[in-house]
Amino acid sequence: MTKKNIVVVGTQWGDEGKGKIVDLLTDRVAAVVRFQGGHNAGHTLVIGNQKTVLHLIPSGILREEVDCFIGNGVVLSPEALTKEVLQLEATGLAVKNRLKISEACPLILDCHVALDQARELARGKKAIGTTGRGIGPAYEDKVARRGLRAGDFKNMEQFKSKLAAVMEYHNFMITHYYKADPVDFDVQWAKCEEYAKLILPMLADIPALIDTYNQAGKNLMFEGAQGTLLDIDHGTYPYVTSSNTTAGGASSGAGIGPCELDYVLGITKAYATRVGGGPFPTELSYDVEADTGDQIGKLLGTRGHEFGATTGRQRRCGWFDAVALRRSAQINGLSGVCLTKLDVMDMLSEIKICTHYLLNGKEIYLPPASAEEYDLVEPQYITMKGWETSTVGCSSWDSLPKAAQDYIRFLEKEMGVEVSILSTGPDRSETLVIKDPFES
Ligand code: GDP
Ligand code: IMO
Ligand code: MG
Repeated sequence: MTKKNIVVVGTQWGDEGKGKIVDLLTDRVAAVVRFQGGHNAGHTLVIGNQKTVLHLIPSGILREEVDCFIGNGVVLSPEALTKEVLQLEATGLAVKNRLKISEACPLILDCHVALDQARELARGKKAIGTTGRGIGPAYEDKVARRGLRAGDFKNMEQFKSKLAAVMEYHNFMITHYYKADPVDFDVQWAKCEEYAKLILPMLADIPALIDTYNQAGKNLMFEGAQGTLLDIDHGTYPYVTSSNTTAGGASSGAGIGPCELDYVLGITKAYATRVGGGPFPTELSYDVEADTGDQIGKLLGTRGHEFGATTGRQRRCGWFDAVALRRSAQINGLSGVCLTKLDVMDMLSEIKICTHYLLNGKEIYLPPASAEEYDLVEPQYITMKGWETSTVGCSSWDSLPKAAQDYIRFLEKEMGVEVSILSTGPDRSETLVIKDPFES
């Protein structure tokens, strides 16, 4: 069999279950490559009674024979990296010898975190609802060509003067514009001297490593974070993250030619969730704190444990939105879909699916470009019968209840993409591979 390079992306607003599926499929790959985002991601892996939440380190790390690469498209918080490496190594896992980091990764520093948080505060009701991890400001520095990169740790003298310049620039904004406290240079510098010791041995030429593996006929997996509707260009702007979360980002964010990518697997929740602000037409609004709102929204959130793996925030829940998925299939060029969390819907007697929107009285089948227009759309639904029986750990297509089969078939028709993997529980084992991406 020829080698395969598989890209895994989220097709909705993140938290679709990407980490679980990347971990599952990595038994067939030599390395997993993260290509965008940063420690705003929270990818949950469950194996037996052991749960691991990863933020920055690729979801291949639990398999000792697999290498993990952090590509140039990832914004790297040395602080978050240090914490995650130490936490994983404390469980007895070998991490440092298998983790390789691109020298071109922009660094997230304390001033980026301070700016992210100050801006959110200033936006008040219009806050994006960021994870407050400094993601946006770090990407801005990259594009503005003033940022520090992982490779800068190779020359600490130069690092120090670049750090001073970038901090002076940001501290001016933090203190004068946002009226917040400045970030202390000496504290940041002392931390960076420590980070250098951890990071330097892990720096590597990621495009060259990818090429070497491919030349040797080895499979690779490219792990996306967040989801398509959070893409900086294609998402519900400005309520998005600051990177390209879509499949094209794998090429630029890892350093591999687009023609080398063989299969795009879109991870898709059987319903929809979103955390943070921004449009969400199919939302079934429910407030956990006040215990008020939509009861189906409450059920999805409770059964699906819909709380952020990074910030612990309540995720907003809603019905499946085929309009969003049509856009996702289009811009990612999805080869197949992995449908997750079907089991969360087991109790429902009726299920709604949003097939299109009305915008100013006109039917639309693809999402509008702006958040302002998004606010005006009216979701249109069809209703299907629920299956009202457990699908947890379902091990064959034939053993799925007929109503669940009908639901999946309907979604396939709406998305224009086949469901190749079905996930019916958080555990690695609770997965049904219908059509293996490595064999198709
Ligand atoms: P990611 O960011 O896309 O990797 O997803 P998260 O890990 O943030 O969120 C997905 C959550 O759903 C995690 O708690 C997973 O353990 C859990 N999960 C994944 N697949 C399934 C599934 O098929 N059924 C259920 N019940 N939970 C799942
Ligand atoms: P994973 O990889 C869900 C959301 C934030 C906010 C917006 C911008 O676990 O699916 P940022 O901190 O990136 O500037 O925040 O994006 N967001 C996510 N939502 N899952 C994620 O990652 C997310 N990463 C960022 O809530 O609305
Ligand atoms: Mg997540």
